Amino acid sequence: MSTDLEKDARPGAGDGAADGPTPLLELRDLHVYYGAIGALKGVSLTVPEGQVVALLGANGAGKSTTLKAASGMLQPRSGEVLLRGERVDGIKSHELVRFGIGHVPEGRRVFARMTVLENLKMGAYRLRRPDPADLERVFTLFPRLADRRKQVAGTLSGGEQQMLAIGRALMGKPELLLLDEPSMGLAPLIVQQIFEILKEINEQGTTLLLVEQNASQALQLADYGYVLETGAVVMSDRAPALLSDPRVRAAYLGEAVE
Ligand SMILES: Nc1ncnc2c1ncn2[C@@H]1O[C@H](COP(=O)(O)OP(=O)(O)OP(=O)(O)O)[C@@H](O)[C@H]1O
Ligand SMILES: [Mg+2]
Repeated sequence: MSTDLEKDARPGAGDGAADGPTPLLELRDLHVYYGAIGALKGVSLTVPEGQVVALLGANGAGKSTTLKAASGMLQPRSGEVLLRGERVDGIKSHELVRFGIGHVPEGRRVFARMTVLENLKMGAYRLRRPDPADLERVFTLFPRLADRRKQVAGTLSGGEQQMLAIGRALMGKPELLLLDEPSMGLAPLIVQQIFEILKEINEQGTTLLLVEQNASQALQLADYGYVLETGAVVMSDRAPALLSDPRVRAAYLGEAVE
Protein backbone atom coordinates (compact mmCIF):
# COMPACT_ATOMS: atom_id res chain seq x y z
CA MET A 1 0.00 0.00 0.00
CA SER A 2 1.32 3.42 -0.85
CA THR A 3 2.40 5.50 2.09
CA ASP A 4 4.27 8.18 0.21
CA LEU A 5 1.33 10.40 -0.60
CA GLU A 6 2.30 13.12 1.78
CA LYS A 7 5.76 13.65 0.39
CA ASP A 8 6.22 16.14 -2.36
CA ALA A 9 6.36 14.13 -5.53
CA ARG A 10 5.39 16.71 -8.09
CA PRO A 11 5.92 15.89 -11.71
CA GLY A 12 9.15 16.95 -13.31
CA ALA A 13 12.34 17.45 -11.43
CA GLY A 14 11.11 19.65 -8.64
CA ASP A 15 8.95 22.32 -7.18
CA GLY A 16 10.51 25.38 -8.73
CA ALA A 17 12.24 26.68 -11.80
CA ALA A 18 15.56 26.37 -10.04
CA ASP A 19 15.06 22.66 -9.50
CA GLY A 20 14.58 21.46 -13.02
CA PRO A 21 13.43 22.19 -16.53
CA THR A 22 10.64 24.70 -16.96
CA PRO A 23 7.35 22.81 -17.27
CA LEU A 24 5.38 23.13 -20.48
CA LEU A 25 2.32 24.29 -18.53
CA GLU A 26 2.06 25.61 -15.03
CA LEU A 27 -1.06 26.86 -13.30
CA ARG A 28 -0.35 28.91 -10.19
CA ASP A 29 -2.98 29.57 -7.57
CA LEU A 30 -5.84 30.02 -10.03
CA HIS A 31 -9.05 31.55 -8.75
CA VAL A 32 -11.98 31.47 -11.16
CA TYR A 33 -15.45 32.83 -10.48
CA TYR A 34 -18.77 32.45 -12.25
CA GLY A 35 -20.47 35.61 -11.02
CA ALA A 36 -20.17 35.55 -7.25
CA ILE A 37 -19.52 31.81 -7.08
CA GLY A 38 -15.97 30.57 -6.81
CA ALA A 39 -15.34 27.56 -9.05
CA LEU A 40 -11.55 27.39 -8.59
CA LYS A 41 -10.12 28.31 -5.21
CA GLY A 42 -6.40 28.37 -5.74
CA VAL A 43 -5.61 25.57 -8.17
CA SER A 44 -1.93 24.96 -8.90
CA LEU A 45 -0.65 22.23 -11.15
CA THR A 46 2.30 21.41 -13.35
CA VAL A 47 2.44 19.62 -16.69
CA PRO A 48 6.00 18.68 -17.69
CA GLU A 49 6.83 18.44 -21.36
CA GLY A 50 6.24 15.04 -22.90
CA GLN A 51 4.14 13.70 -20.05
CA VAL A 52 0.50 12.76 -19.56
CA VAL A 53 -1.12 14.40 -16.55
CA ALA A 54 -4.57 13.26 -15.42
CA LEU A 55 -7.05 15.54 -13.69
CA LEU A 56 -9.67 13.64 -11.71
CA GLY A 57 -12.61 14.71 -9.61
CA ALA A 58 -16.34 14.38 -9.11
CA ASN A 59 -18.96 16.27 -11.12
CA GLY A 60 -18.70 19.98 -10.46
CA ALA A 61 -15.21 19.77 -8.94
CA GLY A 62 -13.84 22.30 -11.41
CA LYS A 63 -12.07 20.10 -13.97
CA SER A 64 -13.53 21.74 -17.08
CA THR A 65 -13.06 25.16 -15.52
CA THR A 66 -9.37 24.37 -15.00
CA LEU A 67 -8.94 23.42 -18.67
CA LYS A 68 -10.86 26.51 -19.79
CA ALA A 69 -8.64 28.75 -17.68
CA ALA A 70 -5.55 27.03 -19.13
CA SER A 71 -6.67 27.51 -22.73
CA GLY A 72 -7.85 31.10 -22.35
CA MET A 73 -11.55 30.32 -22.70
CA LEU A 74 -12.01 31.79 -19.23
CA GLN A 75 -9.99 34.49 -17.51
CA PRO A 76 -9.01 33.75 -13.91
CA ARG A 77 -9.76 36.43 -11.34
CA SER A 78 -6.28 35.86 -9.98
CA GLY A 79 -3.41 33.47 -10.41
CA GLU A 80 -1.13 32.72 -13.34
CA VAL A 81 -1.07 30.48 -16.39
CA LEU A 82 2.48 29.90 -17.62
CA LEU A 83 3.44 28.25 -20.86
CA ARG A 84 7.15 27.40 -20.91
CA GLY A 85 7.51 29.88 -18.07
CA GLU A 86 5.81 32.76 -19.92
CA ARG A 87 2.58 34.29 -18.62
CA VAL A 88 -0.26 33.61 -21.06
CA ASP A 89 -3.29 34.36 -18.89
CA GLY A 90 -5.09 37.26 -20.50
CA ILE A 91 -4.45 35.87 -23.98
CA LYS A 92 -7.65 34.74 -25.69
CA SER A 93 -8.16 31.10 -26.63
CA HIS A 94 -8.03 31.64 -30.38
CA GLU A 95 -4.63 33.26 -29.94
CA LEU A 96 -3.37 30.55 -27.61
CA VAL A 97 -3.77 28.00 -30.41
CA ARG A 98 -0.78 29.69 -32.02
CA PHE A 99 1.16 29.22 -28.80
CA GLY A 100 0.67 25.49 -29.12
CA ILE A 101 -2.31 24.80 -26.87
CA GLY A 102 -5.10 22.64 -28.29
CA HIS A 103 -8.32 22.16 -26.32
CA VAL A 104 -10.83 19.39 -26.99
CA PRO A 105 -13.80 20.54 -24.90
CA GLU A 106 -16.51 18.46 -23.27
CA GLY A 107 -19.20 17.03 -25.47
CA ARG A 108 -17.18 16.48 -28.67
CA ARG A 109 -18.23 19.55 -30.57
CA VAL A 110 -17.87 19.16 -34.31
CA PHE A 111 -19.30 21.24 -37.12
CA ALA A 112 -22.26 18.97 -37.78
CA ARG A 113 -23.04 20.14 -41.31
CA MET A 114 -19.48 20.06 -42.53
CA THR A 115 -17.71 16.96 -43.77
CA VAL A 116 -14.97 15.22 -41.82
CA LEU A 117 -12.35 16.73 -44.12
CA GLU A 118 -13.79 20.25 -43.77
CA ASN A 119 -13.82 19.88 -39.98
CA LEU A 120 -10.17 18.84 -40.00
CA LYS A 121 -9.19 21.75 -42.22
CA MET A 122 -10.97 24.11 -39.80
CA GLY A 123 -8.62 22.81 -37.10
CA ALA A 124 -5.69 24.22 -39.04
CA TYR A 125 -7.20 27.65 -39.55
CA ARG A 126 -4.57 29.37 -37.42
CA LEU A 127 -1.75 27.98 -39.55
CA ARG A 128 -1.29 29.61 -42.93
CA ARG A 129 -2.51 26.47 -44.62
CA PRO A 130 -3.23 22.94 -43.44
CA ASP A 131 -0.13 20.78 -43.49
CA PRO A 132 -0.83 17.65 -45.60
CA ALA A 133 1.45 15.73 -43.23
CA ASP A 134 -0.87 16.62 -40.32
CA LEU A 135 -3.86 15.39 -42.27
CA GLU A 136 -2.03 12.15 -43.00
CA ARG A 137 -1.10 11.84 -39.33
CA VAL A 138 -4.75 12.21 -38.29
CA PHE A 139 -5.92 9.69 -40.88
CA THR A 140 -3.23 7.24 -39.76
CA LEU A 141 -4.23 7.63 -36.11
CA PHE A 142 -7.93 7.41 -36.98
CA PRO A 143 -8.42 5.20 -40.06
CA ARG A 144 -12.19 5.44 -39.51
CA LEU A 145 -11.98 9.14 -40.28
CA ALA A 146 -10.04 8.48 -43.47
CA ASP A 147 -12.80 6.15 -44.66
CA ARG A 148 -15.41 8.78 -43.86
CA ARG A 149 -13.63 11.92 -44.99
CA LYS A 150 -16.55 13.00 -47.18
CA GLN A 151 -19.24 12.12 -44.65
CA VAL A 152 -21.12 14.95 -42.94
CA ALA A 153 -19.88 15.09 -39.32
CA GLY A 154 -23.38 15.20 -37.81
CA THR A 155 -24.03 11.68 -39.07
CA LEU A 156 -20.90 10.16 -37.46
CA SER A 157 -21.28 7.90 -34.43
CA GLY A 158 -20.44 9.34 -31.01
CA GLY A 159 -17.04 7.65 -30.99
CA GLU A 160 -16.25 8.88 -34.49
CA GLN A 161 -17.24 12.42 -33.51
CA GLN A 162 -14.86 12.24 -30.54
CA MET A 163 -12.10 11.04 -32.87
CA LEU A 164 -12.89 13.96 -35.19
CA ALA A 165 -12.80 16.45 -32.31
CA ILE A 166 -9.35 15.14 -31.29
CA GLY A 167 -8.18 15.02 -34.91
CA ARG A 168 -9.30 18.59 -35.48
CA ALA A 169 -7.30 19.77 -32.46
CA LEU A 170 -4.23 17.91 -33.77
CA MET A 171 -4.49 19.84 -37.06
CA GLY A 172 -3.47 22.96 -35.08
CA LYS A 173 -0.12 21.27 -34.27
CA PRO A 174 -0.51 21.50 -30.49
CA GLU A 175 2.44 20.86 -28.22
CA LEU A 176 -0.04 20.56 -25.38
CA LEU A 177 -3.43 18.96 -25.82
CA LEU A 178 -6.13 19.55 -23.19
CA LEU A 179 -8.74 16.81 -23.32
CA ASP A 180 -12.03 17.10 -21.44
CA GLU A 181 -13.55 13.66 -20.84
CA PRO A 182 -12.80 12.13 -24.23
CA SER A 183 -14.33 8.80 -23.18
CA MET A 184 -17.64 10.18 -21.97
CA GLY A 185 -20.68 8.24 -23.13
CA LEU A 186 -18.73 5.86 -25.36
CA ALA A 187 -18.90 2.06 -25.46
CA PRO A 188 -16.03 0.23 -23.70
CA LEU A 189 -14.40 -0.92 -26.93
CA ILE A 190 -14.33 2.63 -28.32
CA VAL A 191 -13.05 3.96 -24.98
CA GLN A 192 -10.21 1.45 -25.24
CA GLN A 193 -9.42 2.63 -28.77
CA ILE A 194 -9.47 6.29 -27.75
CA PHE A 195 -7.04 5.62 -24.88
CA GLU A 196 -4.72 3.67 -27.19
CA ILE A 197 -4.72 6.56 -29.64
CA LEU A 198 -4.05 9.08 -26.85
CA LYS A 199 -1.05 6.98 -25.86
CA GLU A 200 0.20 7.06 -29.43
CA ILE A 201 -0.34 10.83 -29.68
CA ASN A 202 1.74 11.26 -26.53
CA GLU A 203 4.45 8.92 -27.81
CA GLN A 204 4.63 11.06 -30.94
CA GLY A 205 5.61 13.99 -28.71
CA THR A 206 2.40 15.78 -27.69
CA THR A 207 2.00 16.53 -23.98
CA LEU A 208 -1.45 15.72 -22.58
CA LEU A 209 -3.55 17.15 -19.75
CA LEU A 210 -6.43 14.73 -19.52
CA VAL A 211 -9.68 15.23 -17.60
CA GLU A 212 -11.45 11.92 -17.05
CA GLN A 213 -14.22 10.30 -15.03
CA ASN A 214 -12.68 7.04 -16.14
CA ALA A 215 -10.05 7.23 -13.40
CA SER A 216 -8.60 3.77 -13.83
CA GLN A 217 -7.83 4.10 -17.54
CA ALA A 218 -6.66 7.69 -17.14
CA LEU A 219 -4.20 6.79 -14.36
CA GLN A 220 -2.90 3.82 -16.32
CA LEU A 221 -2.04 6.16 -19.18
CA ALA A 222 -0.82 9.07 -17.04
CA ASP A 223 2.55 9.80 -15.49
CA TYR A 224 1.06 11.98 -12.80
CA GLY A 225 -2.38 12.82 -11.46
CA TYR A 226 -4.24 15.50 -9.57
CA VAL A 227 -7.53 15.11 -7.74
CA LEU A 228 -9.81 18.14 -7.54
CA GLU A 229 -12.56 18.60 -4.98
CA THR A 230 -14.81 21.67 -4.91
CA GLY A 231 -12.31 23.82 -6.76
CA ALA A 232 -9.15 22.78 -4.95
CA VAL A 233 -6.44 20.15 -5.44
CA VAL A 234 -6.79 17.66 -2.59
CA MET A 235 -4.33 15.02 -3.74
CA SER A 236 -1.55 14.74 -6.27
CA ASP A 237 1.02 12.08 -6.91
CA ARG A 238 2.57 9.87 -9.50
CA ALA A 239 -0.15 7.97 -11.30
CA PRO A 240 0.71 4.46 -9.98
CA ALA A 241 0.60 5.77 -6.39
CA LEU A 242 -2.81 7.36 -6.96
CA LEU A 243 -4.04 4.20 -8.65
CA SER A 244 -3.21 2.14 -5.56
CA ASP A 245 -4.38 4.72 -3.03
CA PRO A 246 -7.39 3.49 -1.05
CA ARG A 247 -9.03 6.94 -0.99
CA VAL A 248 -8.80 7.22 -4.76
CA ARG A 249 -10.00 3.66 -5.18
CA ALA A 250 -12.99 4.30 -2.95
CA ALA A 251 -13.96 7.64 -4.46
CA TYR A 252 -13.18 7.15 -8.14
CA LEU A 253 -12.82 3.45 -8.81
CA GLY A 254 -15.98 2.32 -7.08
CA GLU A 255 -14.30 0.23 -4.42
CA ALA A 256 -15.54 -0.18 -0.88
CA VAL A 257 -13.55 1.53 1.85
CA GLU A 258 -11.81 -1.00 4.09
N1 LIG B 1 -21.07 28.94 -16.94
C1 LIG B 1 -21.22 28.70 -15.63
N2 LIG B 1 -21.98 29.51 -14.85
C2 LIG B 1 -22.10 29.29 -13.54
N3 LIG B 1 -21.52 28.29 -12.87
C3 LIG B 1 -20.78 27.44 -13.59
C4 LIG B 1 -20.58 27.59 -15.01
N4 LIG B 1 -19.80 26.59 -15.44
C5 LIG B 1 -19.50 25.84 -14.36
N5 LIG B 1 -20.09 26.34 -13.25
C6 LIG B 1 -19.98 25.80 -11.88
O1 LIG B 1 -18.60 25.73 -11.53
C7 LIG B 1 -18.33 24.52 -10.85
C8 LIG B 1 -17.25 23.74 -11.59
O2 LIG B 1 -17.78 23.33 -12.86
P1 LIG B 1 -16.95 22.49 -13.90
O3 LIG B 1 -17.73 22.43 -15.15
O4 LIG B 1 -15.57 23.02 -13.98
O5 LIG B 1 -16.90 21.06 -13.18
P2 LIG B 1 -16.37 19.66 -13.72
O6 LIG B 1 -15.41 19.16 -12.71
O7 LIG B 1 -15.89 19.80 -15.11
O8 LIG B 1 -17.70 18.77 -13.66
P3 LIG B 1 -18.23 17.58 -14.65
O9 LIG B 1 -17.51 16.35 -14.22
O10 LIG B 1 -19.68 17.50 -14.32
O11 LIG B 1 -17.95 18.00 -16.06
C9 LIG B 1 -19.66 23.79 -10.72
O12 LIG B 1 -20.18 24.06 -9.46
C10 LIG B 1 -20.51 24.40 -11.82
O13 LIG B 1 -21.86 24.40 -11.45
MG1 LIG C 1 -16.54 19.04 -16.89
